[in-house]
Amino acid sequence: MAKTFLILFGAPGSGKGTQAIRLADKMKLPMVSTGDLLRAELEKNSPLGRIAKKYMDKGKLVPDELLAEFVEHRLKKADARAGAIFDGFPRNEEQQEFILRRIKPALRAGGRAFAVLIDSSDKAIKARLGGRRACACGAVYNLKTKPPKRAGVCDLCGKKIYTRDDDKPKVIADRLKLYHKQSEPLLDYWRSEGKLIEVNGDAAIDEVWKELEGKIKEKGLI
Ligand code: AP5
Ligand code: MG
Repeated sequence: MAKTFLILFGAPGSGKGTQAIRLADKMKLPMVSTGDLLRAELEKNSPLGRIAKKYMDKGKLVPDELLAEFVEHRLKKADARAGAIFDGFPRNEEQQEFILRRIKPALRAGGRAFAVLIDSSDKAIKARLGGRRACACGAVYNLKTKPPKRAGVCDLCGKKIYTRDDDKPKVIADRLKLYHKQSEPLLDYWRSEGKLIEVNGDAAIDEVWKELEGKIKEKGLI
């Protein structure tokens, strides 16, 4: 089976998680969100979770070797047979090299890989993140722009939604800085390969989805 990989780029709060859930549903591919996977480890208080927390609380990157092992393990699961949608991975050169190496055989066998940039201004992001509420199942809400149907409860799985520990102004500022310095330069590769799909992340959630859906359709991905 020819595999499809979609790699979502965008600053913290640009809407990667929000759009990844819709993409996963539409493309029938699993969403591989390193942030969600790490938060699940935190919740379990596993050794990895305890290490990761130290970095995540400061808005720093968790060491590459831990992430690579994690992603490798996730890609071996049966639901990733047809490919995956990456949210939050890769974030630096080392991780990008890892993923390109990892998907190379699939691309040689006729698979496809595209990157998506959800392009949002730092101003819009800072305004959004204070109101974010997250769920362990990966669903994302916003008290202003996307409230849950029942206050405090996830629409999808019924669990209690929560405020992320890294949604504090100082940590948000550090995460944004890190994104511009380490992750944004990775886009050059995808742009030069003609494999970058860009959408305006400052628009409303449904507008972003409309633009994204149209563009992935143009590429024959749905
Ligand atoms: P991660 O969880 O990946 O966080 P992030 O990249 O900082 O991105 P966010 O999840 O904050 O934002 P998002 O783009 O998903 O936006 P969302 O859809 O939630 O990573 C967290 C930490 O884990 C990292 O800092 C690092 O420590 C570690 N980590 C993770 N991956 C790693 C890696 N590969 N290597 C090393 N360390 C790693 O939307 C945000 C809010 O806005 C929500 O409230 C949403 O409802 C709302 N919203 C979304 N779109 C719109 C819109 N268009 N208009 C209005 N509101 C909107
Ligand atoms: Mg996210």
